[in-house]
Amino acid sequence: MIQVKSFENGFKYIEVTNDIASAKIALQGAHIYEYKCKGKDDILWLSETSSFEDGTAIRGGIPICWPRFGSLDESLPAHGFSRTSKFELLGAQEISRTLTEVTLLLKDTKESRALWDVAFELEVIFRVGETLKVEMKTINRDKKEFMITQALHTYFSVSSIADVKIFGLEEKPFLDTLKDEESSEKKEISIDAECDRVYQDVDRDIVLKDKNRTIILKAEGSSSAIVWNPWIEKGSRMSGMRADAYREFVCIETANAFNDFRLIKPQESHTLSVILSS
Ligand code: BG6
Repeated sequence: MIQVKSFENGFKYIEVTNDIASAKIALQGAHIYEYKCKGKDDILWLSETSSFEDGTAIRGGIPICWPRFGSLDESLPAHGFSRTSKFELLGAQEISRTLTEVTLLLKDTKESRALWDVAFELEVIFRVGETLKVEMKTINRDKKEFMITQALHTYFSVSSIADVKIFGLEEKPFLDTLKDEESSEKKEISIDAECDRVYQDVDRDIVLKDKNRTIILKAEGSSSAIVWNPWIEKGSRMSGMRADAYREFVCIETANAFNDFRLIKPQESHTLSVILSS
């Protein structure tokens, strides 16, 4: 079943239910904020104090950072403008009893042109089934080449941040944005303090393990990834989350960030995607 629903304030989302999984996807930001397989807990973390209202990004789920990841470009909002832009529903179909596909579309508007003077289409395709696939396809509809950086900023729900181990990024170079230092580590990642790292040369699946489960991230069109947890001090200053929420999630972001930026020629496209399975 595919239904378009709204909160009391008119904030719209799409609810998908099939024989194996269910999901909720907000039209603002093409933002999936719930994905559950039957009999299992949600793999996505959602802050119970998040807003669901126009103009504010949902805290949790998979925010889409586009056409910029981060805040290096001062002419654009941090993580770009797609998080708070309203997408249209381009198509939705029940491919089988256990697989549903939803496609959302964002095109340039007067408002986006004022921030970023480019003609574009951004299609975000969700495949909800035994696994969750999210695909971001950027199409250049302009006469000039343009550059993007982007991320699927996934908040994973974890038993406790103390139990988390992340595999697949060993030996990969990363920028520790807290120290502004390049580094790499031999071992898998454990987190016991604020962590904000942009990894490059990512060429393997990333595996997230906690006490209860293992989640595999299979990315395409990406060779960078961000591992982020705000920890106590930053977490207590952040909008839309409780001060101690840092214990409950870790963000592993499938990206085209920093050196992994992409140039897209007129009428060409670039697709970034991730498949999440547990
Ligand atoms: C991460 C960044 O991707 O997103 C962090 O690496 C940032 O530096 C975090 O704090 C959350 O950003 P925001 O804009 O959603 O609060």
